[in-house]
Amino acid sequence: MSKTWNQTRVAEKLGIVYPLIQGPLGGFPSQRLTAAVSNFGGLGSFGAHGLEPSVIDERIAEIRSLTSKPFAMNLWGSMEDQGAHTSDDAAFQRALSHLSPHIKKVGGTTPSYSPYKAIRFEDQARALFDADVPVFSFIYGIPPKEILDEARRKGVITIGTATTPDEASALEQAGIDLVVASGFEAGGHRGSFLRSSEDSLTGTISLVPQTVDQISIPVIAAGGIADGRGIAAAFALGAEGVQMGTVFLGCEESGAHPVHREAILSGKAKHTSLTRGFTGRLARGIHNELLETLNRPNVEILPYPLQRGLMRSLALPAQEAGDAELLALWAGQSANLTQCTSVEKLLTELVESVEDKIDR
Ligand SMILES: Cc1cc2nc3c(=O)[nH]c(=O)nc-3n(C[C@H](O)[C@H](O)[C@H](O)COP(=O)(O)O)c2cc1C
Repeated sequence: MSKTWNQTRVAEKLGIVYPLIQGPLGGFPSQRLTAAVSNFGGLGSFGAHGLEPSVIDERIAEIRSLTSKPFAMNLWGSMEDQGAHTSDDAAFQRALSHLSPHIKKVGGTTPSYSPYKAIRFEDQARALFDADVPVFSFIYGIPPKEILDEARRKGVITIGTATTPDEASALEQAGIDLVVASGFEAGGHRGSFLRSSEDSLTGTISLVPQTVDQISIPVIAAGGIADGRGIAAAFALGAEGVQMGTVFLGCEESGAHPVHREAILSGKAKHTSLTRGFTGRLARGIHNELLETLNRPNVEILPYPLQRGLMRSLALPAQEAGDAELLALWAGQSANLTQCTSVEKLLTELVESVEDKIDR
């Protein structure tokens, strides 16, 4: 009997019905979103990179209380950039000087410099293993061998993220189970690890087939996929699964602030840009006054994660003031195609649309 479109190695390995993955949305946590996608028969993910191990533990328990299906917990292989420990008050004040007018405009309090406290990736990974998570996904590199050995011993499925075919090969050689090939259309960070992010800006339609040709483990396509056309195209390129992020930020279950959701759903999201200004690392968001400020050549950007900390002083008051021009509106290039209300409605429509396209 011939297989249907959804019966791929990705679905089989993960034990899910549809190889449709809600990508981790670090910084926008929503246990409800993760569980809703898994309950539908896809794979929900939870971005846990900014969380202390004890909090990760609580989030896993909350997700488990909402679903008995497989879900992924996601971490970042690299948690700080060079210079994060030596960056000082003077650099903080220089970076702040460009944001101060914006912070004042939305009624925020001027932040003061405080040294950075690291969370260790190894401690976070331990929390995932102790909680017996079914799937461990990650971005920004390859975890140390001991961690991957433990994942294999415990039967935890691993998903790595590649922004070039060579990164995908490195992940395959390390024994990772599945690879997300993430084109530069994607929302969120550009998680490159062999070359700089700026030097790894391959688009999805180019990256996916080259990655499929270069490795033998299954490839999951990500970046700019927001409807049935995109999913069918990714499968035609050889992907065996699809990971979407921005489209889920627009859903009612998402952890995004209503101002952010509204910007994604409002039809104003046609113009997105890359910036280091949101966190210190290259990421994509809707082009607005804030992104324009951050991308000016004279604006100092602190190393990750200091810039991320600094930006919080603006994010909270901008949200309260409902100011979409001064909020970091994380989104990918297909934000404008996004039409989510609830996860169930979105996924039902996506599945129907893919089936229709594949039949035709
Ligand atoms: C706000 C936001 C946060 C994200 N955080 C993470 C993260 O912590 N870890 C990760 O592996 N991917 C992260 N991603 C990437 C998504 O999981 C997904 O691969 C990507 O959004 C796919 O591209 P799309 O936005 O065009 O759908 C993030 C994306 C967005 C939009």
